[in-house]
Amino acid sequence: MKTIFSGVQPTGTVTIGNYIGAFRQFTELQHEYHCNFCIVDQHAITVRQDPKELHQTIRSLAALYVASGIDPEKANLFIQSEVPAHAQAAWIMQCISYIGELERMTQFKDKSEGQEGVSAALLTYPPLMAADILLYNTDIVPVGDDQTQHLELTRNLAERFNSRYGNTLTIPEIRVPKTGARIKSLQEPTKKMSKSDPNKRATISLLDTPKEIEKKIKSAVTDSEGIVKFDEENKPGVSNLLAIEAAMSDRTIDEVVAKYDGLRYGDFKAGVAEAVINHLTPIQENYNNLIESSKLDDILDEGAEKANKIASATLKRMEDAMGLGRKR
Ligand code: TYM
Repeated sequence: MKTIFSGVQPTGTVTIGNYIGAFRQFTELQHEYHCNFCIVDQHAITVRQDPKELHQTIRSLAALYVASGIDPEKANLFIQSEVPAHAQAAWIMQCISYIGELERMTQFKDKSEGQEGVSAALLTYPPLMAADILLYNTDIVPVGDDQTQHLELTRNLAERFNSRYGNTLTIPEIRVPKTGARIKSLQEPTKKMSKSDPNKRATISLLDTPKEIEKKIKSAVTDSEGIVKFDEENKPGVSNLLAIEAAMSDRTIDEVVAKYDGLRYGDFKAGVAEAVINHLTPIQENYNNLIESSKLDDILDEGAEKANKIASATLKRMEDAMGLGRKR
């Protein structure tokens, strides 16, 4: 059985962008693959976080994974900082990364440009991500398309390691969803929807109330043409809403377009909001049952134990291949 690894940062509340690009793939794939899903809290601290808030966000993200359908009997769910091999393997990955290739990462450029006091870790974020993936002998990494560049780098680093130190690491493939690989901001539909967007009207979080969802979709930017059709270049706002409804109602874009044939944007937006609310309501109910439960701690304890076993074995192989330490 092939192995999957993916991670989500505990920063802000998970958006329907994260859900459509990542979570939805996870719940589908867990039936066919050996899955490892991670709450990547060490990635989150590459920018400054409030400790209390981070602590809560980690738990909330864990609950959202399970509430969205991750079955702990099938998939391994754990917190990155509870598996020390991630930071250890990240150091090794940094040692084989070139500064130039890290500086070329668009996420680094976007997050560091014009900022003061940029952490060194923002630059070395991709080697940590490579470590996350490579420690689990991962075959496939399901992500949204904003992670493509990091995945290419991960593959390059793994190949570089293998060619220098012998065949040690599995080279992973990327998997992005056919529709919804990049859900856009509701207010600026040429930009991706992002958890860290300060404009709350631009994103829908998995925990938004039905009223909030209706309001945000109602005020989503569209165009003045008044025709519901899919054309990402000329009608980015409408196309984004179509992608959202298609993902949330498990239909194709064409089916959703047909549903609104001859209808106005007001009806269209009400329909999109309804599809989102219908999809999120059971997830929110599951979430509320889980968030304070000890079941969540049991899942994460067991997840960390399993993850530590796999990750420390790979780390040992990496260290041995490089000649680190004394014992073989
Ligand atoms: P993060 O936390 O920003 O996002 C989590 C997942 O959600 C996807 N995503 C989106 N998909 C569609 N539309 C959007 N608007 C959208 N926004 C985010 C992301 O592509 C991602 O799949 N670096 C990663 C976390 C990470 C990781 C890993 C991922 C750390 N180590 C190892 C995979 C494997 C990140 O910041 O994701």
